[in-house]
Amino acid sequence: MFSSAVNNKSIGHKFIKSDSQMLNQVYGTDDVVPYWIADMEFPIASPITAAMQNLVDRETYSYEFDSKSVFNAISDWNKQRHQLTLNPDNFVQVPGVLSAIALLIREFSEKGDGVLIQTPVYHQFRRLIESAGRTAVTNTLKTENGRYVVDFEDFENKLKQGDVKIVLLCNPHNPVGRVWQKAELEQLVAIARKYRTLIISDEVHADIIFTGNEFTSIIEFGYEQSISIIGSPAKNFGLNSISNGYIYSDNPELKQQINSTVSSMSLDHGNAFTTYATIAAYQQGMPWFEAFLDYTQANRDWITEYLTVQLPQVKFYQPEGTNQIWLDFSSLQLDSTELKSLLTQKAKLALTPGTWFGEIDENFYRLNFAAPLEQIQASFELLNSAINQLQN
Ligand SMILES: Cc1ncc(COP(=O)(O)O)c(C=O)c1O
Repeated sequence: MFSSAVNNKSIGHKFIKSDSQMLNQVYGTDDVVPYWIADMEFPIASPITAAMQNLVDRETYSYEFDSKSVFNAISDWNKQRHQLTLNPDNFVQVPGVLSAIALLIREFSEKGDGVLIQTPVYHQFRRLIESAGRTAVTNTLKTENGRYVVDFEDFENKLKQGDVKIVLLCNPHNPVGRVWQKAELEQLVAIARKYRTLIISDEVHADIIFTGNEFTSIIEFGYEQSISIIGSPAKNFGLNSISNGYIYSDNPELKQQINSTVSSMSLDHGNAFTTYATIAAYQQGMPWFEAFLDYTQANRDWITEYLTVQLPQVKFYQPEGTNQIWLDFSSLQLDSTELKSLLTQKAKLALTPGTWFGEIDENFYRLNFAAPLEQIQASFELLNSAINQLQN
């Protein structure tokens, strides 16, 4: 099911990740294998295709939006996967996760206010904050025993100063692959509660959790100033270009406020393709999703084993969740131009530069491993020989 990529040869140029112009712009060449966007390389689950095929076969697209079924399907899924109780009445639908964040920032802060992010973090966060005229306040993650952790002292200091109106959390964390543990979130919530700071938690990667780790939603803490964006089938079902964003809060006032803004802009009008795809994914997609998760966990294990044994010069951070791995090439001791040339020209890899995520050190790159293993293996062999040539 996952061993081969979608036959994208004739349509590849339509996708951002493999668009030739885009690749040339970012990497100076289009002769690279795309690992830079969090976008899977597999055909989607067949019940989703069947649901969309059904829709096409009806040959009519009258107004319809069955939000109740969508919210019920998302709630049932979360109950099953995470033992998380979400009230279907407490969702608000918007066109996507990023539009949800953009809207919530505008709704719950003023121009000039601070929005806290934990760098290195998904690069669009900063763009959304700054384009709304707010200030991105960074609470840089620190590393302890080869693992990223929250710098709570700095976090509290930033909140204490009073400019931060929103904490924008990424859980699981893209790009460092942490799945924040209950105790860590508890500490974070306790500090936010102390300063009455709103937490917005982007939980789009919530389902991609590897063995030994457990996803905890921000909703579980009963903190009334918290909002989750949970339930988008973008990352877990590969529906990036057709999925919605689902905003969730158990606080009736927050939910009401979000709802009235969203509906005043008619942003809640569903698209039938998204609606049917989402329902099919969450109602019938479990077997496919479990196979997908097993497959990508095996990819992660292959990569980490390969790096440990064959390429110890490349340091990695063990992904606990997400299909992203965070790599550190600093031991190669190349300057940023040499490193970029090694990765793109010699190893033919399109990786996301860590600097996009607010990482100062130019030796960091992110790789998306939701791709066929044979392709990944070939890429790592090429990387290995490129590094060996360098050292000979
Ligand atoms: C943490 C995070 N949030 C949001 C998105 C994008 O969400 P959407 O395309 O639904 O706006 C991504 C995509 O990679 C992501 O990693």
